[in-house]
Amino acid sequence: MRQRALGSSGLEVPVVVLGAYPLGGTNWGSRDDDEALRALRVAFDGGMTAVDTAPVYGFGHSEELVGRALAGREDVRVLSKVGLRWDADHGRLAYRALDANGQLRSVHHDGRPKSVQQEVEQSLRRLQRERLDLVQLHAPDPDVPVGETVGALAALVDAGKVRAIGTSNLSLEQMTQAHGSLRDVGGLTSEQLHFSLLTRGAEEDRLPWAAANEVGVLAYSPLDQGLLAGAVPADRKFPKGDKRAGRATFQPENRGRINAILSDVVRPIADGHGATLAQTVLAWTIDVPGITAVLAGARTERHVQENLRAGTLELSEEERATIGRAFAGFELQAPKTQGLMARVFGKLRGR
Ligand SMILES: NC(=O)c1ccc[n+]([C@@H]2O[C@H](COP(=O)([O-])OP(=O)(O)OC[C@H]3O[C@@H](n4cnc5c(N)ncnc54)[C@H](OP(=O)(O)O)[C@@H]3O)[C@@H](O)[C@H]2O)c1
Repeated sequence: MRQRALGSSGLEVPVVVLGAYPLGGTNWGSRDDDEALRALRVAFDGGMTAVDTAPVYGFGHSEELVGRALAGREDVRVLSKVGLRWDADHGRLAYRALDANGQLRSVHHDGRPKSVQQEVEQSLRRLQRERLDLVQLHAPDPDVPVGETVGALAALVDAGKVRAIGTSNLSLEQMTQAHGSLRDVGGLTSEQLHFSLLTRGAEEDRLPWAAANEVGVLAYSPLDQGLLAGAVPADRKFPKGDKRAGRATFQPENRGRINAILSDVVRPIADGHGATLAQTVLAWTIDVPGITAVLAGARTERHVQENLRAGTLELSEEERATIGRAFAGFELQAPKTQGLMARVFGKLRGR
């Protein structure tokens, strides 16, 4: 697996990092711990020597599983996060999600230094580590300046508990602020953002800025949660609690159009390399200028095995351009219920 430097931190990551969100069992994914542990071990042994998790994934469960799979292994980089809490209710509500018992949990923003310190201590315990390689602000807290939160992480770098500092879901302005306020400790190491063939907005601003400032970029949901792997045919049903069912990308009409592009344009290129759709889409994403690595979410050993090969697959410039062009300008149709809700709220507001 190819490795790349993550920003100027001295930290190296494989171009395919394992995303441990689905195996925590929140929003989607099974709670089959044996399968999850197998998937993690296959990933680490096969060359995905970095894993991205977060306290809130599975409400602590994703970090616990990663900790169990890691036990005694120092060759795997551990990337976690702070700033979204389900175990305290101080800040503004970020979102609600069902836990594995079907109970609705509220997740709150909390970027206060005191909370950051508590979260890192809890992560170290769950992950069975003395130091985390990268801790990222998961999402900006609307009530706490970004500089204050990353400043608390800088104190944890000094204390030897954190190696490097990252952020996620920031605007360009917030990234610039975070980078500036960390100047004395070498700047921001990385930003984690949504990037896929269907979501390329970061190419306009954050990717060029990151490249120019030696800040790494970790692309999340590169398969758009399975859709770009060709794994969501028109008739696939999602179980209760699986949030994908309500997302715009997963509406039947969008599925149909995305699957048509995959089969008409991406499939022939994949076949030419003896590769799958998921491998080809991941390989395309890895080589977008400014992207350091993709975070490939997986909950089964089979998915991990498949995604590992994306780290060695290289597409030609012509193939990359063909795939990019096929999705350029793709406009998602809004879910029907969103249209209905908009009409209902429009009427209420009109009263
Ligand atoms: N910072 C943030 O706010 C944020 C947000 C989202 C994600 N992330 C990070 O990014 C990682 C990746 O994102 P993601 O998990 O949202 O989405 P993703 O990687 O785009 O998709 C993961 C899903 O795709 C399907 N899949 C994976 N490999 C496949 C394969 N080879 N063939 C067919 N289907 C395959 C699986 O769906 P099924 O389960 O249906 O099989 C899996 O759950 C996360 O794990 C997390 O670490 C961060």
